Amino acid sequence: MMERPEIISLPKVKDVRGSLSFTESFTHVPFDIRRVYYIYDVPGGESRGEHAHKALNQLFIAVSGGFFVDLDDGLGYKQTFYLSRPDQGLLLPKGYWRKLYNFTSGAVCLVLASEVYDETDYIRDYHQFIHEKQTNGHSLS
Ligand code: TYD
Repeated sequence: MMERPEIISLPKVKDVRGSLSFTESFTHVPFDIRRVYYIYDVPGGESRGEHAHKALNQLFIAVSGGFFVDLDDGLGYKQTFYLSRPDQGLLLPKGYWRKLYNFTSGAVCLVLASEVYDETDYIRDYHQFIHEKQTNGHSLS
């Protein structure tokens, strides 16, 4: 499975009528897509997604506008990405604390996820996240 977060390029079919991009399980995304959700109408100054997942793998796409994503694996890896291209995605493996912020007006974050929604897969407390990462090695239980 995926190790580190990475930006991937998605196909783009462009002609005079506009552009079309797409993504498929196992062709571009290394997991079965079981759920799609999207974040939009985010007021300036608000942030989303301050939590981590135990098992969920995801692909984030800025289908419109742009936003920043801060990532933290709890073990020293910290990275900030700016997503603003509908023909790119950020592959995010399980086990990262993430924060989405500074959405431009009208921005839409499309997320393709490897599992259906499950609240028990969330870690919503940052100190608990750090504690679990540092005691269990890389995995979250
Ligand atoms: P959440 O993942 O907590 O987003 P954020 O960290 O940005 O607030 O989701 C917000 C709410 O939406 C939460 O009550 C759970 C609900 N939700 C679903 O019911 N299904 C989903 O697929 C997602 C992503 C969230």
